[in-house]
Amino acid sequence: MASSGLIIVEDDADIELPRSMGLLTLIDQRRYGDTGFWLYRAAKQTNNSCKCCSERGVDAMGELNERIAIYPGTFDPITMGHLDILNRARELFDRVIVAVAQHPSKKPLFSLDERLQMIRDCFEGTDREIEVEAVSGLIVEYAYQKGAKTIVRGLRAVSDFEYELQLALMNRRLERHVETVFLMTGFRWIFISSSIIKDAAQHGGDVSTLVPDHVQQKLKEKYGIE
Ligand code: COA
Repeated sequence: MASSGLIIVEDDADIELPRSMGLLTLIDQRRYGDTGFWLYRAAKQTNNSCKCCSERGVDAMGELNERIAIYPGTFDPITMGHLDILNRARELFDRVIVAVAQHPSKKPLFSLDERLQMIRDCFEGTDREIEVEAVSGLIVEYAYQKGAKTIVRGLRAVSDFEYELQLALMNRRLERHVETVFLMTGFRWIFISSSIIKDAAQHGGDVSTLVPDHVQQKLKEKYGIE
């Protein structure tokens, strides 16, 4: 078999097949109804797992093995709680991509562009780069396109759990190779949400410790508060 060749196995979607078989490594898995497809590729015979390759995140198959995570949400607007989760995630993964969902059913206060820009502005003038993108459609599809195997979600209180469990299990059902990882929000932020902050800001409440300065400014502009 040529080193770039693929073996595709078709079977019942609910069975488990191994991640590797000899020189073959599972590179993708798809489910269409009750039918599953497993794609295996043979490892290249050349040994390129040298120090410089592994430092660049390239493994013996010439594949990028960076740990990429997606942090999805509506971010209407981004809060200190979101930033707390993002910073924790960045400690754990090589790349974290913030995926901003359009979420029209939530009727966001801020446009998609405004939400993206507010997130980018959190890192303006710092030496920490941030990847932020708009996402429409399924999060797991987006994760797959990005080569991400992980979705990061923050948990604040027990009340988040039921919804998050449902979301994570549905995402697993749609794409079993994408795992959801939950991170605990810092204690200071467990009571906040974007909605409660908007509510307080709309009535002139001080939210300066709960959102970055530029977000507070944008809230004031939106609500016409001096
Ligand atoms: N600190 C503070 N607040 C937090 C928080 C934290 N660490 N984590 C979550 N929140 C708040 C948010 O501010 C938000 O508050 P709000 O409801 O008052 O606006 C709330 O918790 C939950 O929001 P968020 O994390 O933005 O999630 P969401 O439920 O709005 O969006 C998506 C969830 C976008 C990830 C999900 O709908 C999705 O994946 N959509 C794409 C379609 C798809 O793939 N669906 C899944 C399969 S069915």
